[in-house]
Amino acid sequence: MLLWLWGFVRPYRLRLVIAIIALVATATLTLSLGQGVKLMIDEGFSSQSTLGLANALSVVGLIIFAMSIGAYFRFYMVSWLGERVVADVRKKLYSHLVSLPPSFFEDNLAGEIQSRVTTDTTLLQTVIGSSFSFALRNALTFIGGLSLMFISNIKLTLIVLLVVPFIVFPLIYFGRKVKKLSRDSQDKIATVGAWAGESLQHIKVVQAFTREDMVNEQFGQAAESAFDVALKRIRQRALLIALVMMLVMGSVAGMLFVGGSDVIAGELSAGDLAAFVFYAIMVAGSLAAVTEVYGEVQRAAGAAERIRELLATKAEIESPEITVADTSSEYGVLQDQPLIEFNNMSYAYPSRPNMNALNQLNLAVKAGESIALVGPSGAGKSTIFDLLLRFRDPQNGDIKIAGKPLTEWDLQDLRSQFALVPQQPVLFSANVWDNLKYGRPDATEAEVMAAAKAAHADEFIEQLPDGYQSFLGEQGVKLSGGQKQRLAIARAILRDPKILLLDEATSALDAQSEHYVQQALDGLMKGRTTFIIAHRLATVRHVDRIAVFDHGQLVDFGNHDELLESSDLYRKLAELQFQVEEKA
Ligand SMILES: Nc1ncnc2c1ncn2[C@@H]1O[C@H](COP(=O)(O)OP(=O)(O)OP(=O)(O)O)[C@@H](O)[C@H]1O
Ligand SMILES: [Mg+2]
Repeated sequence: MLLWLWGFVRPYRLRLVIAIIALVATATLTLSLGQGVKLMIDEGFSSQSTLGLANALSVVGLIIFAMSIGAYFRFYMVSWLGERVVADVRKKLYSHLVSLPPSFFEDNLAGEIQSRVTTDTTLLQTVIGSSFSFALRNALTFIGGLSLMFISNIKLTLIVLLVVPFIVFPLIYFGRKVKKLSRDSQDKIATVGAWAGESLQHIKVVQAFTREDMVNEQFGQAAESAFDVALKRIRQRALLIALVMMLVMGSVAGMLFVGGSDVIAGELSAGDLAAFVFYAIMVAGSLAAVTEVYGEVQRAAGAAERIRELLATKAEIESPEITVADTSSEYGVLQDQPLIEFNNMSYAYPSRPNMNALNQLNLAVKAGESIALVGPSGAGKSTIFDLLLRFRDPQNGDIKIAGKPLTEWDLQDLRSQFALVPQQPVLFSANVWDNLKYGRPDATEAEVMAAAKAAHADEFIEQLPDGYQSFLGEQGVKLSGGQKQRLAIARAILRDPKILLLDEATSALDAQSEHYVQQALDGLMKGRTTFIIAHRLATVRHVDRIAVFDHGQLVDFGNHDELLESSDLYRKLAELQFQVEEKA
């Protein structure tokens, strides 16, 4: 863990050096206080001289002054390092997470990952920002104090040292246990967090189905089991601390008895004994401190391990090392060739390896063409969008854009060809401006407003309390479903992409808004390569060609009139819908 952490500390070597200098200086000064104590007793008390006492005290005063200055630098530098390193770890962790493919987040609870970024890194901060310096300081005190003890009195030192093996072995043994328990404990806390997050986010469903009691119960259990694991850890540590304290203080008492006898026999000056006791107490105190910190370091080691694991998760989908020169400028040349090709492509979700969500798909789309994807629910339509955006890689066959397989595209280049209106509109906790400009941060005010107008969103935006400045709440909870959808469309319009992906983009709109938005989309689709998924066939009648999917299979392909003739499935879907519409 230390080696790994060193990678983060290294850029701040200079500060580390200052911190260590300050640390060594304060530790040395602390130890030299022992000599001050000796002076005070031998020159002051024993020789009954007030002047001697005053002189000794002024030496002590100087040492204390220097110590305070050292302490300031030590504390400042070390805390600075702790905060700095944790900020760096957090940043690195987050940017790594953002690069992971969506499938990672399907297998891992968002709340749990959040806890890695917040709780685990905070643990690291405790270690670097305080425990580590605390331990180092105490280790120095320990070594220095011990040397001074040896120098001043070997016999007494040996008595004190008798207990050391009894301390070190339990320390290592318990330390291992604490580390494991700490990991469990953090895992439990992460789960508790994830639980809470999910039910709070969906509070309406929880309350509508009156499941508050059940959620309470589940959360309570999770919290209790986190407590249980924490309790085990605390027991181990409490035991360790008590054991060390007893052994250390016991040996100090033994040493005091032997040393006291020597002073009475006149073999040792009272000042020497006082200084020795001072050292012994410092040494014992530092040992106790180190054991306490050791537990904490073990806890942090558990946290570091988890953070490292997360950082080591490889993004399965990455840009190729060397990207072939950007072909986007050659779009014009490619006008007669297909812009997008699916070649014998099959894809199965990893969690369902035996069922192809898309099976042996062959499809070629020319630049500027609009293609509708229709078919029953679960047919694989949205999956096509995931594959086009390279959120997932097909197991067989390939997809080419502008003649280049997706795997050869730089990911950012590839994705900037698209604008997506997803099946569930997604808004961020920000105001209308920021949400609309999400796909094109440099858009001007006029452009944003034009896009909003085209998506038929300007009317309701202007009626919001703060207009475009209105804050939309987390995931846009302060809007209706249709309003969210219009904002999602406006965002796509503003992005002005080469390829437009519309997944049920108008499904939540009333007939009138849909009519207007559809007009805007028709305008947007003109001359632009577009994939449009829709259940309502009326909305896709005018596209160039319609692809009919069933169970992951492309079953028919053609325009509306052709399909009415040739496709049983399409005819069935169309008849059902027109029946419903006629009734209405
Ligand atoms: N993340 C996932 N993991 C595993 N299976 C998935 C995942 N997403 C979708 N599927 C499955 O893949 C199949 C195709 O799903 P897809 O979302 O592409 O359907 P769709 O045609 O868009 O349906 P709808 O019209 O209802 O949106 C479905 O059987 C679905 O259960
Ligand atoms: Mg879908």
